[in-house]
Amino acid sequence: MKTLNTRAIVLAAGKSSRFKTNRSKLLYSVCGQPMILYTIKLLKNLGIPTTVVVGYQADEIKKLIKDSAFKVDFISQKELLGTGNAVAITKKTWDKDNILVMNGDGPLLTEEIIEELLYSHNNSGAVVTFLSSHSMNPEGYGRVIRDGKHVSIIEERNLTDEQKFVTLINSGIYLFKKNFLQDNIDNIQLDSIKKEYYLTDLIKMASDQALKVKTIPVPYDNVRGVNTLEELWAVEQIKRSQIIKHWMTQGVRFELAQSIHIDWDVEIGIGSYIGTGVHIIRGTKIGSNCTINAFCIIDNCKIDDNSYIHSHTVVQDSKIGKNSHVGPFARLRNNVLIGNNVNIGNFVEIKNSEIADDSSAKHLTYLGDSKIGKNVNIGAGTITCNYDGVNKHRTEIKDGVFIGSNNTLVAPVVIEKDAYTAAGSTITKDVPKESLAIARARQENKVGYAKKLKNKNKKETESSVSSSVHKEKRSKLNFVGAVKPKSAQNL
Ligand code: UD1
Ligand code: CA
Repeated sequence: MKTLNTRAIVLAAGKSSRFKTNRSKLLYSVCGQPMILYTIKLLKNLGIPTTVVVGYQADEIKKLIKDSAFKVDFISQKELLGTGNAVAITKKTWDKDNILVMNGDGPLLTEEIIEELLYSHNNSGAVVTFLSSHSMNPEGYGRVIRDGKHVSIIEERNLTDEQKFVTLINSGIYLFKKNFLQDNIDNIQLDSIKKEYYLTDLIKMASDQALKVKTIPVPYDNVRGVNTLEELWAVEQIKRSQIIKHWMTQGVRFELAQSIHIDWDVEIGIGSYIGTGVHIIRGTKIGSNCTINAFCIIDNCKIDDNSYIHSHTVVQDSKIGKNSHVGPFARLRNNVLIGNNVNIGNFVEIKNSEIADDSSAKHLTYLGDSKIGKNVNIGAGTITCNYDGVNKHRTEIKDGVFIGSNNTLVAPVVIEKDAYTAAGSTITKDVPKESLAIARARQENKVGYAKKLKNKNKKETESSVSSSVHKEKRSKLNFVGAVKPKSAQNL
């Protein structure tokens, strides 16, 4: 019943000139999802067949929509002649009795609101029903102007000084009876100032013909449009706080929630704790009772239950098992698989490597293109030399191995089970199982020589100080005042 014989037309051809970035605003992400996909997915979920009008940067927009696995019809708007023209060119796709027209730049809309719109429209006999809203700062929006029973929408630049104070705005979401659209869409006149056809003129045209126009007021935060980067920021803050509130209801604790970035497709288990300034993005899944401490970035990762990511750690495209610790100041990237009960400590970088259960690399280490078994200890300062300037090579360290501190492991190299390497070794050959590898210069002790050396150095220093004039010039620090961005100086 829900879709009530409706086709949707989504307007996505505009040039986004107020964005000032030379990129369609509809391609910009809100909490990790391109803006246009909020509208598209909403229509997909409601099962409403959809036509999308594309023009500016059409290829990128079409690709995004195709990748979202919702089959829509695309119509190209050759000349960007305004929203009235954008709807007019979709005429041949009007195969339902009701036509739902939506701007592509309203990512906060909900399915419930569209269901309410469909329901009230069909029970009212109106030729058009549109969503309106009260905004305390209505600048930029078309205003809903009433004169007795007569309703019209007047665009910002055409408002009288008095009308500018009207706070009821047009949301850009309308449900038309197809017959009304067919009879009137070609009668919209070109706006003499903007040289565009305004879809909103249809409201006045219906009222002029004494046809019924219905308005449903809805919360402003559901219909905010995005014309500028500032509005994108405002909309994203709202979306982000909705996401955070949702996870709070699911038992996730956020420290300083307003500082946390979290994408729409992230999942977090109950009892987990997210610290100040953390970014959790691109479909990351965090288990229950995990801690992600302050200023971590967790990007496209899976972290299992009870794991602890210490502050200032960056983890990308990787998986971490249960009860493991990573950081502080660690970096894991490019397909790192960490097992259970693993300890990765400070200043450790791991790339494209697998580290099995109960192993640890606690300090100042680089592990690249490596496979590390269970119960392995990697000593402080260990480096895998995985790159010979041309190719990357693998290091394999099998179960139970102990790598002493400050080792360089020149790949390709295999350290077999339960082997031991001495501190300071440069390992260039495979190490057999249960063996000790020592690969460093042998130490020599010269007994009593230190004292002799000290006296010799002392004498040399005394003679050089007395014979020279010690001059030290300190250059004065020359601070140049920081230049503020031009526009900020005028604030
Ligand atoms: C529009 C409404 C305004 C309303 C506001 C709500 C008109 C004339 N004005 O203004 O009353 O308050 O939305 O957010 O409709 N587009 C095209 N082809 C074009 C021009 C625009 O497809 O030739 C698309 C844009 O990509 C965008 C949508 O239509 O997704 C709306 O265009 P936009 O320029 O944002 O309209 P507003 O000025 O916000
Ligand atoms: Ca807009």
